[in-house]
Amino acid sequence: MKKFSRYLITSALPYANGPLHIGHLAGVYVPSDIYTRYLRMKGENVISICGSDEHGVPITLKARNEGVTPQEIVDRYHSLNKKAFEEFGIAFDIYSRTSNKIHYETASDFFLTLYKKGEFVEKTTEQYYDEEAGCFLADRYIMGTCPHCGNENAYGDQCEKCGTSLSPNDLINPHSTVSGSKPVLRETLHWYLPLDRYEGWLKEWILEGHKEWKTNVYGQCKSWIDQGLQPRAVSRDLDWGVPVPVEGAEGKVLYVWFDAPIGYISATKELTPDWELYWKDPDTRMIHFIGKDNIVFHCIIFPAMLKAEGSFILPDNVPANEFLNLENDKISTSRNWAVWLHEYLEDFPGKQDVLRYTLCSNAPETKDNDFTWKDFQARNNNELVAILGNFVNRTLVLTNNYYEGRVPERGATGETDKPVLTEIGKIRENVESSLEAFRFREALREAMNLARLGNKYLADAEPWKVIKTDPERVKTIMNISLQITANLTIILEPFLPFSMEKLRSWLNIEKIQWNNAGRDDILKPGHIIKKPGLLFEKIEDAEIRKQIDKLESAKKANEAASSKLLPSKEPVTFDDFSRVDIRTATILEAEKVPKTTKLLKLKIDTGLDIRTIVSGIAEYYEPENIIGRQISIVANLEPRKIKGIESKGMILMAEDKDGKLVMVSPEVKVNNGSTIK
Ligand code: MF3
Ligand code: ZN
Repeated sequence: MKKFSRYLITSALPYANGPLHIGHLAGVYVPSDIYTRYLRMKGENVISICGSDEHGVPITLKARNEGVTPQEIVDRYHSLNKKAFEEFGIAFDIYSRTSNKIHYETASDFFLTLYKKGEFVEKTTEQYYDEEAGCFLADRYIMGTCPHCGNENAYGDQCEKCGTSLSPNDLINPHSTVSGSKPVLRETLHWYLPLDRYEGWLKEWILEGHKEWKTNVYGQCKSWIDQGLQPRAVSRDLDWGVPVPVEGAEGKVLYVWFDAPIGYISATKELTPDWELYWKDPDTRMIHFIGKDNIVFHCIIFPAMLKAEGSFILPDNVPANEFLNLENDKISTSRNWAVWLHEYLEDFPGKQDVLRYTLCSNAPETKDNDFTWKDFQARNNNELVAILGNFVNRTLVLTNNYYEGRVPERGATGETDKPVLTEIGKIRENVESSLEAFRFREALREAMNLARLGNKYLADAEPWKVIKTDPERVKTIMNISLQITANLTIILEPFLPFSMEKLRSWLNIEKIQWNNAGRDDILKPGHIIKKPGLLFEKIEDAEIRKQIDKLESAKKANEAASSKLLPSKEPVTFDDFSRVDIRTATILEAEKVPKTTKLLKLKIDTGLDIRTIVSGIAEYYEPENIIGRQISIVANLEPRKIKGIESKGMILMAEDKDGKLVMVSPEVKVNNGSTIK
């Protein structure tokens, strides 16, 4: 591989419209932090860039809902999120924000450069306009029915149910989310980046030139390119964002996905006067850490922008992750189905590394993955406490007990020692090659093998027994165990920075450069170590129960909110009620009513007779699956002709939580025709 002289690591700028959760950490920031720490320990020249993405319609909508300004919203979440990153040890060199002046200037200049070079296409199109509110309806300002899946609550930019990206003109029955009114079409002028012009170049650059990218990333790029690229509008009719810096563009701002990635550039400018070295020298290796929903923007659109500008380098890799689920359900801010970082810090103070460890061990690297509290507990108790903590504790306690903390001299090494010493070097190499390939789970597993190795070495060598018969031998055992411990502080530092800092302080050493890992003489004989504390503590069932209960109540609150129960009806007399003849019956035959999608024709046995009922349940049941089922019917409903078929009666159905109809059946089989009273 090419040798680079410096690294520019970027991590997706999170929207400043809500707090951060474990999905953010697992998908983007834990991997980017591990990688950055590793590079720094190798002595590479590296800067790590991040900040808040403070534009976009979700932010203005939230502001509108709360009756505050967008600036107040982004101020609130920018500081909350900045603090959460700091507390989790995510070691950015700068955490900037896109409402900064330097960003407005940078994004504006970038647009102007492309504009002057003639890289945009200007187009006047008809877009939806809200006459009541007096504004155009971009992106999430408009909702309607998704043309692909029929979801009635699809947004102008995306249907969250089927995941399709949309434009407002695709929506069926559109309505404004500002006033609720039905929008009209009005002409408006916008600037488009003609992605179609970059197709050939993108094919060559990505599909030919970056076959080493992760399969999920490469695959998404290929499918976008193969489908044919369209010009993308880079401006919007909105009043929150970077104003379009040309004449006649009043009331127009840069599209958030145009300005946000430029935020990486402005943040670098803010960080260092050498920013151009990082962005323009081809010896810089730029790597974007992102989640999978950001792939097209970082692999296709932003590179096309950089290419159009002409003086910037391109990303060398974009190791995007898939999504993390929580207890088998999609993480969702609006449904409060998440583990919020600021709440975790309150509930598990000082345990940042435990979460970092769990999220990395279980990172959604190649497919979506699930976080469960049980797994979190198990990883802590069975791995961090039982393997790593146990080994370190024994080594440090025994050294203190036997030698008053003085590192003993190593004597002759034997059959059981030598393989252990060579293994340290091998583990380092394995961790390194996994990290270089962005396989962080594998890297962590391999790094933990060093603790496993140490644990097994001590268990086999049993210094606590040998001390009585051969104290000289124990010096060798403890020296080797201490060298393993010192190596742990190097190899685990990118993953568990807080714990390794503690461990270094007990070992009484400074941070050690990566290239020393594998050495068996890091701690010199006579060096004095301190008394250790506990590296990790067991997490009890009660603490886990508390977290699961928290999620349960979120779920309950959601169900109550979403089931929108009908208010109860007017009272009726018992007489009224008993006029309705509700009975049990059994389905004998079922078939689809031709040329309909919803109707089934059922032949049923009511005990009194065999009759036909037409029922609108074809979307929920396959005919062959319901034959023989006992159901409840209204037997004396006036007969009705449906699609030319006489239907005598009605089947009783209830709605489940997804709005699907289910049959109301007696608990045990009863006679057909038995009245329900
Ligand atoms: N705010 C976006 C998101 O959370 C990410 C922006 S990344 C950037 O999905 F490159 F545009 F900054
Ligand atoms: Zn849809």
